[in-house]
Amino acid sequence: MPALFSPRSNRIARASLGAALLLAVGVPVALMLWVRTPAVTEQGRSAAQPVPFDHRIHAGDLRIDCRYCHYTADRGASAGLPATETCLPCHNAAWMASAAFAPVRQSLSTQRPIPWQRVHRLPDFVFFNHAIHAKGGVACESCHGRVDRMAQVSQAAPLTMAWCIDCHRNPEPHRRPEDAITTMGWHPSSGAALAPLGAERIREITTCSACHR
Ligand code: HEC
Ligand code: HEC
Ligand code: HEC
Ligand code: HEC
Ligand code: HEC
Repeated sequence: MPALFSPRSNRIARASLGAALLLAVGVPVALMLWVRTPAVTEQGRSAAQPVPFDHRIHAGDLRIDCRYCHYTADRGASAGLPATETCLPCHNAAWMASAAFAPVRQSLSTQRPIPWQRVHRLPDFVFFNHAIHAKGGVACESCHGRVDRMAQVSQAAPLTMAWCIDCHRNPEPHRRPEDAITTMGWHPSSGAALAPLGAERIREITTCSACHR
């Protein structure tokens, strides 16, 4: 046995610690990339809703800004779903009396939210925040796709770790002026370019602790 703390064996010990870490982190990551096919990631998933709410009408034809309903999408951790009162200014008594609006009436009389079914869901051990992305000029469209063309919302992106990190490594092509983050079908020619985030910020958002705290 060589002396444990000679400079040389110390180097060897460090090298094998490095190898062990690589194995511990690299293997699960490699396995994850391997198994995250659309069936596993739930990309394309949608959920039947209690009211046939259609984004093509509301966000498409009527061009209501996403934040009219998802109040905290640019200033909170989560985007949020609309309170039932949000539907009332446009939907009069005749609408309210229709069968499709039964859950809306029920919600108003019981003061309980409409039981909308979640489509996107990250595991609990992942930290995510909408406001940071909005302030960084990342659009709803970049992660949720053309919601204005969806009769029923479906999960457009895989939401895997590899997907998150791909953008974090090279975010500039995905950034736009903050006033355009809710625009659907935006073109880079229609706004001034943002100041690049810089190498230090890229390093911060690609370390494990950015998303696993
Ligand atoms: C800014 C106005 C506005 C708001 C706010 C609004 N709607 Fe609508 N909604 C409309 C209009 C206008 C139509 C009808 C479009 C048409 O018939 O072409 C419609 C249509 C609908 C329909 C009928 C779809 C169909 O296939 O017949 C449902 C259901 C609906 N809205 C639910 C909701 C719910 C739930 C909310 C609240 C989360 C809401 N709307 C908020 C304006 C609005
Ligand atoms: C008039 C209100 C209204 C507007 C405007 C609106 N939404 Fe929604 N959104 C809803 C409601 C209600 C739900 C829940 C029912 C459903 O999934 O359709 C929802 C669901 C969603 C979901 C799925 C959430 C989950 O469960 O994971 C996404 C993503 C979303 N909206 C994005 C957008 C984007 C992007 C825009 C703008 C282009 C937008 N919405 C505009 C009312 C609205
Ligand atoms: C960087 C990617 C990304 C961007 C940009 C983004 N979202 Fe999301 N969104 C997600 C993820 C991931 C979830 C699931 C979060 C979770 O499970 O904690 C989500 C969830 C949601 C939900 C469900 C309710 C909630 O808050 O969890 C709605 C509604 C929504 N997003 C709307 C929007 C709107 C509107 C915008 C634009 C203003 C937007 N999102 C921008 C990735 C994104
Ligand atoms: C399309 C590009 C894009 C995608 C996809 C994306 N992000 Fe980001 N994310 C960014 C940008 C850009 C920033 C930095 C914003 C800034 O500094 O202004 C950021 C910042 C963050 C931060 C803040 C880190 C810190 O230390 O402040 C977290 C956390 C984060 N993202 C989590 C996620 C997770 C989790 C996913 C996948 C579910 C994801 N992001 C997907 C572009 C993206
Ligand atoms: C930009 C955000 C982001 C960064 C940075 C990030 N992760 Fe993740 N990680 C995720 C997301 C999202 C998931 C869940 C989705 C999935 O499993 O692909 C995840 C899942 C994992 C899992 C899988 C757990 C399971 O049960 O499947 C491990 C292990 C992991 N991350 C380790 C790491 C390590 C180690 C690093 C640093 C090298 C790291 N992550 C950096 C976003 C991130």
